[in-house]
Amino acid sequence: MKKLITTAIALMSAGLLVAACSAGDSNMSAGDSNMSKSTGENGISDNPDAWSGYQTAREGVRAMNDDDFENPVMPYVDLAANIYDSRDNKGNISCADCHGAPEDETGGRSGIPMKGVGASYPRFNADTGKPINVELQINKCREERQVEKGFKYESDEMLGMTALVNYQSRGMPVVSTAANPDDELHSAWQTGKDFYYQRRGQLDMGCNNCHEDNAENIIRAETLSQGQSNGFPTYRFKWQKPGSLHRRFRGCNKNIRAANFNYGSDEYLNLETYLAWRGRGLPVEAPAVRK
Ligand code: HEC
Ligand code: HEC
Repeated sequence: MKKLITTAIALMSAGLLVAACSAGDSNMSAGDSNMSKSTGENGISDNPDAWSGYQTAREGVRAMNDDDFENPVMPYVDLAANIYDSRDNKGNISCADCHGAPEDETGGRSGIPMKGVGASYPRFNADTGKPINVELQINKCREERQVEKGFKYESDEMLGMTALVNYQSRGMPVVSTAANPDDELHSAWQTGKDFYYQRRGQLDMGCNNCHEDNAENIIRAETLSQGQSNGFPTYRFKWQKPGSLHRRFRGCNKNIRAANFNYGSDEYLNLETYLAWRGRGLPVEAPAVRK
Protein backbone atom coordinates (compact mmCIF):
# COMPACT_ATOMS: atom_id res chain seq x y z
CA MET A 1 0.00 0.00 0.00
CA LYS A 2 2.77 2.38 0.91
CA LYS A 3 4.36 1.80 -2.47
CA LEU A 4 1.10 2.62 -4.20
CA ILE A 5 0.73 5.91 -2.32
CA THR A 6 4.30 6.92 -3.03
CA THR A 7 3.71 6.24 -6.70
CA ALA A 8 0.45 8.17 -6.61
CA ILE A 9 2.28 11.16 -5.20
CA ALA A 10 4.94 10.86 -7.88
CA LEU A 11 2.27 10.75 -10.56
CA MET A 12 0.47 13.76 -9.14
CA SER A 13 3.65 15.73 -8.85
CA ALA A 14 3.97 15.14 -12.54
CA GLY A 15 0.59 16.75 -12.99
CA LEU A 16 -1.04 13.43 -13.65
CA LEU A 17 -4.25 12.76 -11.87
CA VAL A 18 -4.58 9.34 -10.38
CA ALA A 19 -8.01 8.09 -9.53
CA ALA A 20 -8.23 4.59 -8.20
CA CYS A 21 -10.91 2.75 -10.05
CA SER A 22 -13.28 0.79 -7.94
CA ALA A 23 -13.38 -2.94 -8.28
CA GLY A 24 -16.82 -2.64 -9.79
CA ASP A 25 -15.68 -0.52 -12.75
CA SER A 26 -17.68 -1.74 -15.70
CA ASN A 27 -14.58 -1.88 -17.87
CA MET A 28 -12.87 -4.31 -15.64
CA SER A 29 -15.35 -6.78 -14.25
CA ALA A 30 -13.87 -10.23 -14.18
CA GLY A 31 -16.68 -11.71 -16.20
CA ASP A 32 -16.14 -9.32 -19.09
CA SER A 33 -16.70 -11.41 -22.17
CA ASN A 34 -14.24 -9.30 -24.15
CA MET A 35 -11.52 -10.09 -21.71
CA SER A 36 -8.55 -11.51 -23.53
CA LYS A 37 -7.93 -15.04 -22.50
CA SER A 38 -4.39 -15.23 -21.26
CA THR A 39 -4.32 -18.94 -21.88
CA GLY A 40 -4.58 -18.33 -25.61
CA GLU A 41 -5.68 -21.08 -27.92
CA ASN A 42 -3.61 -23.90 -26.54
CA GLY A 43 -4.56 -23.21 -22.92
CA ILE A 44 -1.07 -23.91 -21.60
CA SER A 45 -0.23 -20.51 -20.24
CA ASP A 46 1.43 -20.27 -16.86
CA ASN A 47 0.58 -16.60 -16.91
CA PRO A 48 -3.11 -16.33 -16.06
CA ASP A 49 -3.04 -12.74 -14.75
CA ALA A 50 -1.86 -11.12 -17.97
CA TRP A 51 -4.45 -9.02 -19.80
CA SER A 52 -4.36 -6.99 -22.96
CA GLY A 53 -4.64 -3.20 -23.21
CA TYR A 54 -7.68 -3.94 -25.35
CA GLN A 55 -9.53 -4.52 -22.12
CA THR A 56 -9.12 -0.97 -20.88
CA ALA A 57 -9.62 0.64 -24.28
CA ARG A 58 -12.84 2.60 -24.75
CA GLU A 59 -15.83 1.39 -26.69
CA GLY A 60 -15.24 3.39 -29.88
CA VAL A 61 -11.57 2.48 -29.94
CA ARG A 62 -12.43 -1.18 -29.50
CA ALA A 63 -14.95 -1.05 -32.32
CA MET A 64 -12.25 0.22 -34.68
CA ASN A 65 -9.86 -2.39 -33.36
CA ASP A 66 -12.37 -5.15 -34.02
CA ASP A 67 -13.30 -4.23 -37.57
CA ASP A 68 -10.55 -4.70 -40.14
CA PHE A 69 -12.36 -2.35 -42.51
CA GLU A 70 -12.29 0.41 -39.91
CA ASN A 71 -8.81 -0.37 -38.62
CA PRO A 72 -6.63 2.59 -39.69
CA VAL A 73 -3.53 0.38 -39.95
CA MET A 74 -4.96 -1.54 -42.90
CA PRO A 75 -3.94 1.00 -45.57
CA TYR A 76 -0.36 0.56 -44.35
CA VAL A 77 -0.79 -3.19 -44.57
CA ASP A 78 -1.99 -2.79 -48.17
CA LEU A 79 1.06 -0.68 -48.98
CA ALA A 80 3.29 -3.37 -47.51
CA ALA A 81 1.46 -6.15 -49.37
CA ASN A 82 2.44 -4.45 -52.64
CA ILE A 83 6.08 -4.26 -51.56
CA TYR A 84 5.87 -7.89 -50.43
CA ASP A 85 4.98 -8.95 -53.96
CA SER A 86 7.41 -6.65 -55.73
CA ARG A 87 10.66 -7.66 -57.45
CA ASP A 88 11.60 -4.04 -57.84
CA ASN A 89 14.84 -4.35 -55.85
CA LYS A 90 18.50 -5.08 -56.61
CA GLY A 91 18.09 -8.77 -55.82
CA ASN A 92 15.18 -8.89 -58.27
CA ILE A 93 13.30 -11.14 -55.89
CA SER A 94 10.13 -10.57 -53.90
CA CYS A 95 9.36 -11.57 -50.34
CA ALA A 96 6.63 -13.76 -51.86
CA ASP A 97 9.16 -15.53 -54.12
CA CYS A 98 10.77 -16.98 -51.00
CA HIS A 99 8.02 -17.01 -48.39
CA GLY A 100 4.90 -17.50 -50.50
CA ALA A 101 1.87 -15.28 -49.87
CA PRO A 102 1.79 -13.77 -46.36
CA GLU A 103 -1.00 -16.18 -45.39
CA ASP A 104 0.67 -19.22 -46.99
CA GLU A 105 1.20 -21.52 -44.03
CA THR A 106 3.73 -23.65 -45.88
CA GLY A 107 6.02 -20.65 -46.34
CA GLY A 108 6.53 -20.93 -50.10
CA ARG A 109 9.89 -21.90 -51.57
CA SER A 110 11.85 -21.29 -48.38
CA GLY A 111 9.36 -23.19 -46.26
CA ILE A 112 9.41 -20.26 -43.81
CA PRO A 113 5.87 -18.92 -43.29
CA MET A 114 4.87 -15.53 -41.88
CA LYS A 115 2.28 -17.18 -39.68
CA GLY A 116 3.62 -17.64 -36.16
CA VAL A 117 6.33 -14.99 -36.47
CA GLY A 118 4.42 -12.35 -34.53
CA ALA A 119 3.73 -14.84 -31.74
CA SER A 120 7.31 -15.94 -31.23
CA TYR A 121 9.53 -12.90 -31.67
CA PRO A 122 11.93 -11.55 -30.51
CA ARG A 123 14.15 -14.55 -31.20
CA PHE A 124 17.83 -15.09 -30.62
CA ASN A 125 20.08 -14.11 -33.50
CA ALA A 126 23.14 -16.34 -33.36
CA ASP A 127 25.08 -14.04 -35.71
CA THR A 128 24.89 -11.07 -33.38
CA GLY A 129 24.35 -12.88 -30.09
CA LYS A 130 21.39 -10.55 -29.46
CA PRO A 131 17.62 -10.64 -29.76
CA ILE A 132 16.20 -9.88 -33.20
CA ASN A 133 12.68 -8.52 -33.49
CA VAL A 134 10.33 -8.57 -36.47
CA GLU A 135 11.45 -5.16 -37.75
CA LEU A 136 15.12 -6.11 -37.74
CA GLN A 137 14.39 -9.51 -39.30
CA ILE A 138 12.46 -7.83 -42.12
CA ASN A 139 15.46 -5.59 -42.74
CA LYS A 140 17.82 -8.55 -42.58
CA CYS A 141 15.92 -10.07 -45.51
CA ARG A 142 15.65 -6.70 -47.21
CA GLU A 143 19.41 -6.19 -47.04
CA GLU A 144 20.77 -9.72 -47.43
CA ARG A 145 18.24 -11.14 -49.88
CA GLN A 146 16.93 -8.12 -51.75
CA VAL A 147 20.24 -6.23 -51.61
CA GLU A 148 18.47 -3.00 -50.69
CA LYS A 149 18.83 -0.53 -47.89
CA GLY A 150 16.64 -1.51 -44.96
CA PHE A 151 13.40 0.33 -44.32
CA LYS A 152 13.66 3.15 -41.79
CA TYR A 153 12.46 1.85 -38.45
CA GLU A 154 9.43 4.10 -38.10
CA SER A 155 8.65 4.48 -41.82
CA ASP A 156 5.24 3.70 -43.30
CA GLU A 157 6.83 0.79 -45.18
CA MET A 158 8.27 -0.78 -42.04
CA LEU A 159 5.15 -0.22 -39.94
CA GLY A 160 3.02 -1.70 -42.69
CA MET A 161 5.31 -4.69 -43.24
CA THR A 162 5.53 -5.45 -39.51
CA ALA A 163 1.74 -5.20 -39.28
CA LEU A 164 1.35 -7.47 -42.33
CA VAL A 165 3.67 -10.07 -40.80
CA ASN A 166 2.22 -9.91 -37.26
CA TYR A 167 -1.33 -9.97 -38.58
CA GLN A 168 -0.72 -13.54 -39.77
CA SER A 169 -0.43 -14.57 -36.10
CA ARG A 170 -3.67 -12.94 -34.96
CA GLY A 171 -5.19 -14.91 -32.12
CA MET A 172 -2.15 -17.12 -31.64
CA PRO A 173 -0.80 -17.11 -28.08
CA VAL A 174 2.47 -15.28 -27.53
CA VAL A 175 5.19 -17.78 -26.74
CA SER A 176 8.27 -16.99 -24.70
CA THR A 177 10.49 -19.19 -22.57
CA ALA A 178 13.13 -16.50 -22.10
CA ALA A 179 12.89 -16.66 -18.30
CA ASN A 180 14.33 -20.16 -18.46
CA PRO A 181 18.07 -19.98 -17.63
CA ASP A 182 18.77 -22.39 -20.51
CA ASP A 183 17.03 -20.19 -23.06
CA GLU A 184 19.32 -18.40 -25.49
CA LEU A 185 17.42 -15.19 -24.79
CA HIS A 186 17.80 -15.46 -21.05
CA SER A 187 20.45 -12.82 -20.54
CA ALA A 188 18.53 -10.37 -22.75
CA TRP A 189 15.41 -11.19 -20.73
CA GLN A 190 17.28 -10.51 -17.48
CA THR A 191 18.63 -7.18 -18.72
CA GLY A 192 15.17 -6.23 -19.99
CA LYS A 193 13.64 -7.17 -16.66
CA ASP A 194 16.17 -5.06 -14.76
CA PHE A 195 15.34 -2.16 -17.07
CA TYR A 196 11.62 -2.63 -16.41
CA TYR A 197 12.03 -2.33 -12.65
CA GLN A 198 14.76 0.31 -12.71
CA ARG A 199 13.58 3.70 -11.50
CA ARG A 200 14.65 6.39 -13.94
CA GLY A 201 14.06 9.93 -15.13
CA GLN A 202 13.15 13.05 -13.20
CA LEU A 203 10.09 11.25 -11.86
CA ASP A 204 12.24 8.36 -10.68
CA MET A 205 9.81 5.71 -11.86
CA GLY A 206 10.09 2.24 -13.28
CA CYS A 207 7.71 0.74 -15.83
CA ASN A 208 6.27 -1.31 -12.98
CA ASN A 209 5.18 1.78 -11.06
CA CYS A 210 2.58 2.44 -13.72
CA HIS A 211 1.93 -0.88 -15.42
CA GLU A 212 2.07 -3.15 -12.39
CA ASP A 213 1.31 -1.08 -9.27
CA ASN A 214 -1.24 1.15 -11.00
CA ALA A 215 -2.65 -1.04 -13.76
CA GLU A 216 -6.42 -0.41 -13.91
CA ASN A 217 -6.03 3.05 -12.34
CA ILE A 218 -6.78 6.18 -14.31
CA ILE A 219 -4.02 8.63 -15.08
CA ARG A 220 -5.08 11.77 -16.89
CA ALA A 221 -7.88 10.51 -19.07
CA GLU A 222 -6.29 7.13 -19.64
CA THR A 223 -6.80 3.89 -17.81
CA LEU A 224 -3.45 2.26 -17.27
CA SER A 225 -3.06 -1.19 -18.71
CA GLN A 226 -0.33 -3.72 -18.03
CA GLY A 227 1.60 -2.17 -20.92
CA GLN A 228 1.59 -5.38 -22.94
CA SER A 229 3.16 -5.66 -26.38
CA ASN A 230 0.75 -8.05 -28.13
CA GLY A 231 -0.96 -5.37 -30.26
CA PHE A 232 2.03 -3.79 -32.01
CA PRO A 233 2.40 -2.04 -34.33
CA THR A 234 -0.55 -0.12 -32.97
CA TYR A 235 -2.54 2.78 -34.37
CA ARG A 236 -2.82 5.60 -31.85
CA PHE A 237 -5.19 8.51 -32.16
CA LYS A 238 -2.59 10.62 -30.43
CA TRP A 239 -0.09 9.80 -33.18
CA GLN A 240 -2.67 9.85 -35.96
CA LYS A 241 -0.83 6.87 -37.42
CA PRO A 242 0.53 3.49 -36.47
CA GLY A 243 3.64 3.31 -34.33
CA SER A 244 6.09 0.64 -33.29
CA LEU A 245 6.54 -0.79 -29.82
CA HIS A 246 9.81 1.11 -29.55
CA ARG A 247 7.98 4.34 -30.26
CA ARG A 248 5.71 3.50 -27.34
CA PHE A 249 8.74 2.83 -25.14
CA ARG A 250 10.11 6.23 -26.07
CA GLY A 251 6.80 7.89 -25.22
CA CYS A 252 6.61 6.20 -21.83
CA ASN A 253 10.25 7.10 -21.13
CA LYS A 254 9.55 10.68 -22.08
CA ASN A 255 6.53 10.90 -19.78
CA ILE A 256 8.77 10.25 -16.82
CA ARG A 257 11.40 12.55 -18.32
CA ALA A 258 13.92 9.76 -18.69
CA ALA A 259 16.56 9.44 -21.38
CA ASN A 260 15.35 7.76 -24.55
CA PHE A 261 17.03 4.99 -26.45
CA ASN A 262 17.10 4.54 -30.19
CA TYR A 263 14.66 2.54 -32.24
CA GLY A 264 16.09 -0.96 -32.47
CA SER A 265 18.64 -0.30 -29.69
CA ASP A 266 19.89 -3.14 -27.52
CA GLU A 267 18.11 -1.59 -24.52
CA TYR A 268 14.74 -1.70 -26.26
CA LEU A 269 15.34 -5.13 -27.79
CA ASN A 270 16.02 -6.50 -24.32
CA LEU A 271 12.94 -4.74 -22.97
CA GLU A 272 10.88 -6.13 -25.86
CA THR A 273 12.17 -9.62 -25.04
CA TYR A 274 11.08 -9.19 -21.44
CA LEU A 275 7.67 -7.81 -22.39
CA ALA A 276 6.95 -10.72 -24.72
CA TRP A 277 7.55 -13.01 -21.77
CA ARG A 278 5.31 -10.89 -19.49
CA GLY A 279 2.56 -11.26 -22.07
CA ARG A 280 3.11 -14.93 -22.88
CA GLY A 281 -0.18 -16.65 -23.55
CA LEU A 282 -1.96 -13.45 -24.62
CA PRO A 283 -3.32 -13.64 -28.15
CA VAL A 284 -1.53 -11.60 -30.80
CA GLU A 285 -3.82 -8.66 -31.55
CA ALA A 286 -1.67 -6.74 -34.03
CA PRO A 287 -2.35 -4.30 -35.49
CA ALA A 288 -4.32 -2.92 -32.55
CA VAL A 289 -5.99 0.47 -32.11
CA ARG A 290 -5.48 2.62 -29.03
CA LYS A 291 -6.30 6.09 -27.86
C1 HEC B 1 15.87 -15.09 -51.12
C2 HEC B 1 14.83 -15.52 -50.20
C3 HEC B 1 14.21 -14.50 -49.26
C4 HEC B 1 13.65 -13.29 -49.56
C5 HEC B 1 13.59 -12.57 -50.89
C6 HEC B 1 13.10 -12.79 -48.32
N1 HEC B 1 13.35 -13.68 -47.32
FE1 HEC B 1 12.68 -13.53 -45.42
N2 HEC B 1 13.74 -15.18 -44.91
C7 HEC B 1 14.48 -15.94 -45.78
C8 HEC B 1 15.24 -16.92 -45.01
C9 HEC B 1 16.19 -17.97 -45.56
C10 HEC B 1 14.90 -16.71 -43.64
C11 HEC B 1 15.50 -17.44 -42.42
C12 HEC B 1 16.26 -16.50 -41.51
C13 HEC B 1 17.36 -15.71 -42.17
O1 HEC B 1 18.14 -16.30 -42.92
O2 HEC B 1 17.43 -14.49 -41.94
C14 HEC B 1 13.94 -15.62 -43.63
C15 HEC B 1 13.30 -15.17 -42.51
C16 HEC B 1 12.27 -14.25 -42.50
C17 HEC B 1 11.43 -13.96 -41.37
C18 HEC B 1 11.47 -14.65 -40.01
C19 HEC B 1 10.76 -15.99 -40.13
C20 HEC B 1 10.91 -16.86 -38.93
O3 HEC B 1 10.13 -17.82 -38.80
O4 HEC B 1 11.77 -16.59 -38.08
C21 HEC B 1 10.58 -12.95 -41.75
C22 HEC B 1 9.52 -12.28 -40.88
C23 HEC B 1 10.89 -12.63 -43.11
N3 HEC B 1 11.90 -13.46 -43.54
C24 HEC B 1 10.26 -11.65 -43.86
C25 HEC B 1 10.65 -11.30 -45.14
C26 HEC B 1 10.12 -10.15 -45.84
C27 HEC B 1 9.06 -9.21 -45.29
C28 HEC B 1 10.75 -10.11 -47.05
C29 HEC B 1 10.64 -9.05 -48.12
C30 HEC B 1 10.92 -7.68 -47.69
C31 HEC B 1 11.65 -11.25 -47.11
N4 HEC B 1 11.57 -11.93 -45.93
C32 HEC B 1 12.42 -11.60 -48.20
C33 HEC B 1 14.50 -15.82 -47.14
C34 HEC B 1 14.03 -14.72 -47.84
C1 HEC C 1 3.88 7.48 -15.70
C2 HEC C 1 3.28 6.20 -16.00
C3 HEC C 1 3.96 5.31 -17.01
C4 HEC C 1 5.21 4.73 -16.94
C5 HEC C 1 6.26 4.89 -15.85
C6 HEC C 1 5.34 3.88 -18.10
N1 HEC C 1 4.20 3.93 -18.86
FE1 HEC C 1 3.75 2.76 -20.43
N2 HEC C 1 1.95 3.67 -20.62
C7 HEC C 1 1.48 4.69 -19.81
C8 HEC C 1 0.15 5.09 -20.27
C9 HEC C 1 -0.72 6.19 -19.65
C10 HEC C 1 -0.16 4.28 -21.37
C11 HEC C 1 -1.46 4.27 -22.19
C12 HEC C 1 -2.54 3.50 -21.43
C13 HEC C 1 -2.12 2.09 -21.14
O1 HEC C 1 -2.23 1.21 -22.02
O2 HEC C 1 -1.58 1.86 -20.04
C14 HEC C 1 0.98 3.39 -21.55
C15 HEC C 1 1.05 2.40 -22.53
C16 HEC C 1 2.09 1.51 -22.69
C17 HEC C 1 2.11 0.45 -23.66
C18 HEC C 1 1.02 0.14 -24.69
C19 HEC C 1 0.03 -0.86 -24.18
C20 HEC C 1 -1.05 -1.18 -25.17
O3 HEC C 1 -1.85 -2.09 -24.90
O4 HEC C 1 -1.14 -0.54 -26.23
C21 HEC C 1 3.30 -0.21 -23.50
C22 HEC C 1 3.80 -1.39 -24.31
C23 HEC C 1 4.00 0.45 -22.42
N3 HEC C 1 3.24 1.49 -21.94
C24 HEC C 1 5.26 0.08 -21.96
C25 HEC C 1 5.96 0.75 -20.96
C26 HEC C 1 7.29 0.41 -20.56
C27 HEC C 1 8.12 -0.72 -21.13
C28 HEC C 1 7.65 1.30 -19.58
C29 HEC C 1 8.98 1.45 -18.89
C30 HEC C 1 10.09 1.81 -19.77
C31 HEC C 1 6.50 2.15 -19.34
N4 HEC C 1 5.51 1.80 -20.21
C32 HEC C 1 6.44 3.14 -18.38
C33 HEC C 1 2.10 5.20 -18.71
C34 HEC C 1 3.35 4.82 -18.24
